[in-house]
Amino acid sequence: MFVATSTSAVFIAAAYLTLLIPETAATAPTIISRAQWGARAPKHQAANLARKPAPYVVLHHSTGNGCVTQAICQLKVREFQNYHMNSKKWSDVGYNFIVGEDGNIYEGRGWGKQGAHSKPFNNKSIGICIIGDYTNRTPNSAAVQAVDSLIAYGVSSGEIKNDYKLLGHRQTWQTNCPGNSLYTMMQSWPHWAAAA
Ligand SMILES: *[C@@H]1O[C@H](CO)[C@@H](O)[C@H](O)[C@H]1NC(C)=O
Ligand SMILES: [Zn+2]
Repeated sequence: MFVATSTSAVFIAAAYLTLLIPETAATAPTIISRAQWGARAPKHQAANLARKPAPYVVLHHSTGNGCVTQAICQLKVREFQNYHMNSKKWSDVGYNFIVGEDGNIYEGRGWGKQGAHSKPFNNKSIGICIIGDYTNRTPNSAAVQAVDSLIAYGVSSGEIKNDYKLLGHRQTWQTNCPGNSLYTMMQSWPHWAAAA
């Protein structure tokens, strides 16, 4: 009797999980770690986000050339980090994540950390930069899918609010970032918000 009950309980639990999993868990995307892309150590540890899960995602472009291979994208990510640390005098690369048209996601400051990418929003947003200049063209589908899977995973793992707002950098600061073409494109994405 005891065995029969626990067996059916296991079946019910398994059936329940089968129903639940596709709803709640986005597959973890592969993220190229700082060690993998050859990051320098930050000058000091980034502060935690003041609001977690983050209520905003802010999208950026980098200007300059895009990249379609991991070797070149990694080189660019290292260049951004050097520029941010040496010229801007920031403690680390400013973005939480960087995405390439190679379809890879590169770890910047990562989840739950305050970046240096969108001044008034740094303490309540995840900042994602797509490598390239999207003034006159949109990023390829590999990059768009990488951003989409990164955000979906952030939501499912409690790093980004379910009802987050997606903003372009130009909505938070006087800038052309993320470029006219990408800004137009992102306005059709599900969580884009006209106003913060
Ligand atoms: C977050 O940053 C804004 C703007 O920089 C600042 O006014 C605010 O006090 C910060 N919030 C917290 C909780 O640190
Ligand atoms: Zn920007």
